[in-house]
Amino acid sequence: MTLQWIDNQKGIDRYRIDNGKGAMVEIITLGARITKLIVPDRAGDPTDVVLGYDDPAAYFDDTTYFGAIIGRVGNRIDKGRFALNGKTYALATNDGANHLHGGKVGFDHRVFKAMPLDSNKLELTYTSPDGEEGYPGEVKVTVVYTLEEDNALTIAYRATTSADTPLNLTNHAYFNLNGDALSVGGHIAQINADYLTDVDEGLIPHGELLNVKGTPFDFTSPKPIGRDWDGDHRLLKIARGGYDFNYVLSDSAKEVACVTGDKSGIVMTVLSDRPCVQFYTGNFLDGVEGKQIYPYHSAFCLETQGYPNAVNVPSFPSCILKAGETFSSTTTYRFGVK
Ligand code: BGC
Repeated sequence: MTLQWIDNQKGIDRYRIDNGKGAMVEIITLGARITKLIVPDRAGDPTDVVLGYDDPAAYFDDTTYFGAIIGRVGNRIDKGRFALNGKTYALATNDGANHLHGGKVGFDHRVFKAMPLDSNKLELTYTSPDGEEGYPGEVKVTVVYTLEEDNALTIAYRATTSADTPLNLTNHAYFNLNGDALSVGGHIAQINADYLTDVDEGLIPHGELLNVKGTPFDFTSPKPIGRDWDGDHRLLKIARGGYDFNYVLSDSAKEVACVTGDKSGIVMTVLSDRPCVQFYTGNFLDGVEGKQIYPYHSAFCLETQGYPNAVNVPSFPSCILKAGETFSSTTTYRFGVK
């Protein structure tokens, strides 16, 4: 196991953790992003399973959130507005009239401070000032990436705040388990969720849940990601053909989802203590030039999270982090082969 500082380009540090067993991850301080994640495929060949750019400086102009830590609040907040403790707040809006993934300059574009904790552990910290993107309170966030011996990457999140504030941290890695830039439609996916949060035309949940049974959204048993995504269902249209929905995890689900690359045999199992996961199939990718050229549907994301738009939906569990409390959460992406 080794943790190595690689370089600094335009103020962005790059680190590499190698477990000596075929898994390697590269992380940069801009957005605490995962820029490379190598795991062996079924033939033992090293395969980079995340989308990204070769040049760390290219992340300055990134609009896809490749590999980034998302905050303060991942996913959408209706009109960027909410009320808290008797005050109303107007956040930066960056997705039409709505707030997405922390606003105009979210955590994905903030420079974190990196500190190696061990030969397999990198800590990244960022202090989000009071009022940033319209949010109350100063938030101190710590993200620790740990690469395990058994080819699992764990992300541990911790945050505190000086005043009550909404918080919904996630990581926005885009995966293609075949290591190519072709459609992920043939990947086989299973998600441990019987419900998703229904959305309006702007992809905003307002409290209604949709039972996935018998719908194109049912991933309770493994199926090819692309089997049903061309259908006429209202929600598939809203999502631009494909998936872009918040799945509510079954109560007992520690195991969130499991996806297999149909060509590589690489199996990724996601484990988390969060209540939900955003399953997104790259419906807004349009030929982004990165390590490869990434067209529509060439990746999927499994963003573990709290309920989106929870600040405006009383029936959803609260996402408010209170002053004096500590938020902590863990998500693991474990890799194997089939
Ligand atoms: C959202 C998509 C959004 C994408 C941005 C996902 O988390 O659900 O709607 O377009 O992030 O890359």
